[in-house]
Amino acid sequence: MRIIHTREDLREQLDGWRREREHVAIVPTMGALHAGHISLVELAREHAERIVVTVFVNPTQFGEDEDFAEYPRSLERDARQAKRAGGDLMFAPDVDTVYPVGVENATTISVPGLSENFCGSFRPGHFDGVTTVVARLFAMVQPDVAIFGQKDYQQQIVIRRMVEDLSLPIRIVTAATVRDDDGLALSSRNAYLNEDERAAAPMLYRTLCDVAKQLQDGKRNFDELEAQASAALETAGFEPEYVAIRRALDLTPPNRDCDEIVILSAARLGKTRLIDNVVVTV
Ligand code: PAJ
Repeated sequence: MRIIHTREDLREQLDGWRREREHVAIVPTMGALHAGHISLVELAREHAERIVVTVFVNPTQFGEDEDFAEYPRSLERDARQAKRAGGDLMFAPDVDTVYPVGVENATTISVPGLSENFCGSFRPGHFDGVTTVVARLFAMVQPDVAIFGQKDYQQQIVIRRMVEDLSLPIRIVTAATVRDDDGLALSSRNAYLNEDERAAAPMLYRTLCDVAKQLQDGKRNFDELEAQASAALETAGFEPEYVAIRRALDLTPPNRDCDEIVILSAARLGKTRLIDNVVVTV
């Protein structure tokens, strides 16, 4: 698969496809591709004739004491994997290409409210970095469809809000979370886990599934269920940041008759921050 780095090369390729009236899907990633990312590329095939996989470790969505420098990078391997899954092009711009006037002076896109809760309150500015880079990637690739993973539940809700609010002519498709056999959601950051942490990690998903089951059994004491799940995570060796039971549609607090619910959590295991979620129809 061709790996391109500049806007000029990208434009040339896109112009050719547009002349043939081919639809374009974008799969934005930060690279270090795993089976979760690959499932997004495979899903993209069902929505467009051409697929651009972007790889860009976006500095503006990392906090100062976060893992930007050590984030895994493996471009050649990523390109081989993405090609096998049906990708047509890998766009891997450098920081100057994405932020031509510099990160400090960049025009930013911010979705207030939604961006400030849950992960946003523990990673201030994170979602502003995400919406800013995704808007830029959308502007460069001008896709018809964009594929995001349910794994980052709040992220896809924030992006959907941005697209709706800015009337961007892009359809957002959300792909199911790909997991290891023991339930742990695949993530590039799982590579940071040591052996003991890796053994404990599936408890995050199990805890969320347990909450889902209680909701399905008719329990509606949301605050208590959240507190119990947090306590269970602590017992399993996690430092939970939050467990939240919310409306799946927009992350507002559910009432007793709400039928689509998401249970979201972020928790630290050693130095690794894990997130996961489960959507349940009750
Ligand atoms: P990254 O963490 O590389 O994830 C890229 C896409 O893959 C996201 O849409 C994410 O939700 C999805 N994904 C990750 N793990 C998954 C899994 N186990 N199953 C299914 N999908 C999974 O998310 C980002 O990058 C960045 O914030 C980005 C949107 C690229 C903006 O920089």
